[in-house]
Amino acid sequence: MVARLNQFLSLNDIEVATEFLRSHTDLQPRVGMILGSGLGGLAEGVASATKIPTGEVPGWPQSTIEGHAGQLVIGELEGQPVFVLQGRSHYYEGYSMPRIGISARVMQTLGVEILIVTNAAGAVNPDFMPGELMLITDHINFMGMAGASPLRGPNLESFGPRFPDMSQAYDRELMAQAREVAKEEGIELQEGVYVCLGGPNFETPADLRFLRAAGADAVGMSTVAEVIVARHGGTRVLGVSGISNKANLDGDTVTTHEEVLEAGQILVPKLTTLIRGVLRRL
Ligand code: HPA
Repeated sequence: MVARLNQFLSLNDIEVATEFLRSHTDLQPRVGMILGSGLGGLAEGVASATKIPTGEVPGWPQSTIEGHAGQLVIGELEGQPVFVLQGRSHYYEGYSMPRIGISARVMQTLGVEILIVTNAAGAVNPDFMPGELMLITDHINFMGMAGASPLRGPNLESFGPRFPDMSQAYDRELMAQAREVAKEEGIELQEGVYVCLGGPNFETPADLRFLRAAGADAVGMSTVAEVIVARHGGTRVLGVSGISNKANLDGDTVTTHEEVLEAGQILVPKLTTLIRGVLRRL
């Protein structure tokens, strides 16, 4: 399946996937959500939900890893029509960056105005602790800098320009709303810069010291591709990382996927409270 998907995403690919979803639901989502590793539980509260396995959607890159359910949940949360991707796909699974952007493109085609992205991330900032949330204020597109951009290939003019601005990738108003909710609900909300690496291996201590020196606060293997596609198409973005582990800057700690999934259990209730609060304010 991985090998058979084209490298670039065409308007036809997006149309076919969108039409398939329209044949399953009449709901017009306003808010899209992409849930990270171990964080899928956030979708459980979605009311009147239509659930569609991503494996049934034509051209959808399948999530192949534990902690990602691989389904779309379309319904209502806090009165907002939402489109939730429970289980994203990653570059390290073998998909092209443009293919990973299909979720954001389909959301845009369905009318989504706001995308909320979440992920599990390692703390590069030594002040951050596992179990805390981090509001993503900006990102370092490390992979894109080296050429692996989700916008590589023919530009889809009907979505946005060839050279899109990224000066405010994360929406200031949405960030302010998230801060307000965190304060009201007594949730400690760290803030910082997320950097996306290709994975699937975790980082060496030298990788991490380099990332820290470059200005990163948290590191992961996702999110940035979807955010870039969202911004290309004019979608407003809110990003939240769930800190799942301390990054191994000194070489004394081992990082495992199990640890990342375990942290999800602590993170999901906080993340759910935060995101529900933001949805109520929209
Ligand atoms: N590094 C990269 N990706 C991650 C990590 C990490 O430490 N934790 C969760 N995703």
